Amino acid sequence: MNIILLGPPGAGKGTQASRLEAERGMVQLSTGDMLRAAVKAGTPTGVKAKAVMEAGALVSDEIVSGIIGERLDMPDTEKGAIFDGYPRTAPQAESLDSLLAERGRKLDYVIELVVDEDALVDRITGRFTCAKCGAGYHDRYKLPQVAGTCDVCGSQEFKRRPDDNAETVRTRMAEYRAKTAPILPLYEVRGLVRRVDGMADMDVVGAEIAAILDGTD
Ligand code: AP5
Repeated sequence: MNIILLGPPGAGKGTQASRLEAERGMVQLSTGDMLRAAVKAGTPTGVKAKAVMEAGALVSDEIVSGIIGERLDMPDTEKGAIFDGYPRTAPQAESLDSLLAERGRKLDYVIELVVDEDALVDRITGRFTCAKCGAGYHDRYKLPQVAGTCDVCGSQEFKRRPDDNAETVRTRMAEYRAKTAPILPLYEVRGLVRRVDGMADMDVVGAEIAAILDGTD
């Protein structure tokens, strides 16, 4: 099964994609994570993407569709992919169709996480991760059980994304409204879209997505 998780910054795409990966053996394909890894490694793609990402704008369609195509060639994605943060524009949506068709695969669902944008700034600016294992936390909603220590790996080092400040988040939201939300009708006409209340508790959101994938919704 191949699904897209669609929603504005902070909607919970990454959170739900990680759960699906852990629970169903599907593979999370996050273009944001791939680009951040490229920036960290200083690859030519990373060098091009760094300033664009820090400004909250979108990296070029060619770059992101290129990295998704390379990733889809890896055999683990044959078990099923969760597209997290991709596609984000109409040309990317077109590329994804081609990339899947060329590999004899197809898209099963586009799950839209419906959220209240005003609440998202708070979600994003409070977010931090373990610098060692990447486990996610939030200043108010999900603190480590022992203050300053990662629940998963015990590390005491944490980090925040450079684009997780209030000003850049507003730009990212505007990009979503202008370029990403308009791709939903393309999937709507194909009967692929399912909507989930992304403001509900994380477990409730996860259960609703699971019901869609299991056909019990
Ligand atoms: P990307 O990394 O994709 O960021 P994003 O879309 O802005 O989404 P986020 O990761 O911020 O949010 P999310 O929906 O995953 O929420 P999360 O689960 O973390 O992209 C970053 C940049 O890379 C872009 O701006 C662009 O420059 C570039 N880029 C990436 N892909 C691209 C593409 N395809 N084309 C062009 N450029 C691209 O949750 C957020 C917080 O809320 C967490 O703290 C979480 O714990 C909490 N939370 C989650 N769910 C709930 C809930 N139900 N209740 C309460 N809290 C919750």
